[in-house]
Amino acid sequence: MKNPKPPTVRRSISAFRLAFVAIFAISAVLNLLMLTGPIFMLQVYDRVLASNSVPTLLALAGIAILLYLVSGMLDILRLRALNRIAMGVYARLSGPTFSVNLRMPILIGRAAAGVSPSRDLDAIRRFLGSPGPAAICDLPFMPFYFLIIFLFHPWMGILAVAGGAAIFVLVVLNEILSRTPSKQLSESSGLQSALMSTARRNAEAINAMGMGDSLGTRYSAAVERHYLRQQAVSDHGNLFSSIIKTLRLMLQSAMLGLGAYLVIYQEVSPGVMIASSIIMARALAPIEQAVSQWPAFVASRQATVRLDQALQACAQSAATAGLPAPTVDLRVEGLATAAPGSQAPFLQNVAFELKAGDGLGVVGASGSGKSSLARALVGVWPSMAGSIRLDGATLDQWSDGERGRFIGYLPQDVELFDGTVAENICRFSSEPDIDQILQAANAAGIHHMIAGLPDGYQTQIGDSGNFLSGGQRQRLGLARALYGNPFLLVLDEPNSNLDTLGERALTDALKAVRARGGIVIVIAHRPAALAAVNKTLMIQNGTQVQFGDRDEVLRKVVPANRVPAQRRQLDAV
Ligand SMILES: Nc1ncnc2c1ncn2[C@@H]1O[C@H](COP(=O)(O)OP(=O)(O)OP(=O)(O)O)[C@@H](O)[C@H]1O
Ligand SMILES: [Mg+2]
Repeated sequence: MKNPKPPTVRRSISAFRLAFVAIFAISAVLNLLMLTGPIFMLQVYDRVLASNSVPTLLALAGIAILLYLVSGMLDILRLRALNRIAMGVYARLSGPTFSVNLRMPILIGRAAAGVSPSRDLDAIRRFLGSPGPAAICDLPFMPFYFLIIFLFHPWMGILAVAGGAAIFVLVVLNEILSRTPSKQLSESSGLQSALMSTARRNAEAINAMGMGDSLGTRYSAAVERHYLRQQAVSDHGNLFSSIIKTLRLMLQSAMLGLGAYLVIYQEVSPGVMIASSIIMARALAPIEQAVSQWPAFVASRQATVRLDQALQACAQSAATAGLPAPTVDLRVEGLATAAPGSQAPFLQNVAFELKAGDGLGVVGASGSGKSSLARALVGVWPSMAGSIRLDGATLDQWSDGERGRFIGYLPQDVELFDGTVAENICRFSSEPDIDQILQAANAAGIHHMIAGLPDGYQTQIGDSGNFLSGGQRQRLGLARALYGNPFLLVLDEPNSNLDTLGERALTDALKAVRARGGIVIVIAHRPAALAAVNKTLMIQNGTQVQFGDRDEVLRKVVPANRVPAQRRQLDAV
């Protein structure tokens, strides 16, 4: 069953439909109140100065002040409302955007480096909370001003409409020309921050091998490219806003000149001359505002398209079937898989079947595709052909959250997170189960090691667990994989950093999982890890070459003279 309506930016914004109607109504009143100045001017010129009446002046001034105050308050109200909408949209989407952020590399692979949904959401929030939307709300009222100028005198109306049309053409041109640079700007900003975060993550290697300078040069080049693009975008924006500003000033004076000409021929009064010039300026002011906000508007619109695509793609891939957790078997048929975003499969023709209680060792040379198989089995790499079925259901029939409850996975490079030992074991669950944490730590044989840490289970392990040793990290990763007694346990070289004691604990843990009816899949270079399995699968250059009972396969693949040694190692653990 697919979720029919994933949260998207457009849907979140339209949830505030009523608020936008109110903002539009406020804009209508504000635009009407904008006439306060010109009408006051008109009355002062044509009525007060003609009659020399101070009481009339005072009364007019009183009304004008009141109207200005109302208009000021409405303006504040409008900006506050927009700001709240911005925060509301942000609050609705920040959770889904975070999960999209996590899923991007799995969905689109390498292309994810330059894409940042959270930055996109930020751009949308910034624009919604800026004066930009208010300026855009004012644009539809321009014809209303033109109409008033027309009512003053048709010639003035024609001048106003011609000027407005010229500015409109400039706005459209600006929009068309700024699309590509704005898109490029967002890409270069993404690449720049990706470079920085990789460098921080790998600070030790960088410092030890003196790679700082060369990486610095690389980063500077990325920054320079980004700044050049930023410069191009702002040069372009400034050019257009200056042209439009100049044109507006010229139009304002042209309107005054035309008014004066009409006053000379007594077609209009001097008050009308001044008022029409002011109304012209008022009519064109939002355009200028809108143009200055245009880069933010274009950026936010592009961000909306990108983020909505990502949100929808993730919603499609996250199906929730409400299936029970599997308990019987794992069947892999004609499987082909590759990294997300790749066109051709790397690993092909994998087929095997495991029953509850089975343990499978996966062997093969470096780069043969063992980790690729592990990633496909836990559902992070897509199946390009064939299927992976647990109790008959393909992996994508469970949502990520549901699948995580019956899958334990230890990646080749462990991947721990900044937080406490306990948090890492319970997978940062919001409702951690203390008994399960202890059980997982015991099963992984690290309870005593954890107890010896400065704060026990509450010890902070640092970014990626870098306060721990390699072996400690690996065993903590094993405990995390074991948390919640998952049905399918996939361990990618879980013993690469372990000592003999650690390997023994690993073997015991795997035997225990099999004894309780789980399925264990272990990828191994060292045969010690195969002590707890009953089946073996061999991969060569991305294809399965052997599958069967452990000893039988090992006899076939290991040269005869090495078998006894291999056997001795297996029996020793
Ligand atoms: N994230 C990735 N994106 C694209 N290609 C990848 C990715 N990870 C691995 N590959 C490619 O897939 C192939 C198989 O890699 P894999 O990690 O499965 O090998 P392996 O058998 O686990 O090797 P090792 O024993 O060294 O861990 C390699 O040629 C590698 O270039
Ligand atoms: Mg590997």
